[in-house]
Amino acid sequence: MAGVHAVARRAASAGRDVVHRGLAALGLRQSEHAIARDASEYWEDSAGATWKADSHWRDAPVFEGNDLWHQIGARHLAMFQRGARMVQFERPWKRVVEWGCGGGANAVHFAQHCDEYIGVDVAPASLAECADQVAAACGTPFKPVQIPVERPERALDLIAGPCEVFLSFYVFELIPTPEYGERLLRIARDLLAPGGLALIQVKYDDGRWRSRPRRRSYKTGVAAMTTYRIPEFWQLAERNGLVPEAIELVPENELDRRYAYFLLSKPC
Ligand SMILES: C[S@@+](CC[C@H](N)C(=O)[O-])C[C@H]1O[C@@H](n2cnc3c(N)ncnc32)[C@H](O)[C@@H]1O
Repeated sequence: MAGVHAVARRAASAGRDVVHRGLAALGLRQSEHAIARDASEYWEDSAGATWKADSHWRDAPVFEGNDLWHQIGARHLAMFQRGARMVQFERPWKRVVEWGCGGGANAVHFAQHCDEYIGVDVAPASLAECADQVAAACGTPFKPVQIPVERPERALDLIAGPCEVFLSFYVFELIPTPEYGERLLRIARDLLAPGGLALIQVKYDDGRWRSRPRRRSYKTGVAAMTTYRIPEFWQLAERNGLVPEAIELVPENELDRRYAYFLLSKPC
């Protein structure tokens, strides 16, 4: 019976997605300001299983009885280490910044390799959860940085000082617009020390109508809001002072589909 309900829910959600994309295609887009306001409301209200799943908390039902929460961070750490070897990034990781750290699935793996782990998020409850998970995993100090959705640039003042590594996973898909992502790339560039390395995951637009940026109705399609064509994100990074070093594609995994990971360096 639960299976029938899940199928019905997925069908309803797919139907809503088609409607909203159709309306956006007809020009009925929302402004970035309006989408950011909805995003802010969504992430501040930390209640319910869906919110916990969307925030990747370890005790969310989606991670019950499987190894997926652990796998998220383990795979990302292995991917980052592969990339670092490829570009001969050998310096110590004094400070690592993770943009949108959520419930700490990446933090518990990366924090073991650095002197300070800085988690940036818009949700205070997730910053507290991430701090608890890091403390349970290792002794590395965790610095929580809460930013308002509308003003991600606040992080520059709150973090103050360079980092060697900048990470962001399962976040660019749920930011208000592709243009907002350009602001995040500039923040990454400004935070990184010369020669620093970033690994940023985006959801890619594969050319089909339904994989374009959605640009409306945030709360009904949180993880489907923002996508990029792969060459578009490459060029966006270049225009904003980062050097694309490599891309790794994950067309589908246990959580979703159409993921591209960009390894980006800041010139020395
Ligand atoms: C799907 S979770 C990803 C958590 C973690 N990065 C991971 O891979 O498990 C998305 C996180 O992004 C946060 N978030 C949403 N909008 C954000 C924004 N504009 N800037 C930073 N974080 C944001 C949410 O609060 C949530 O914790």
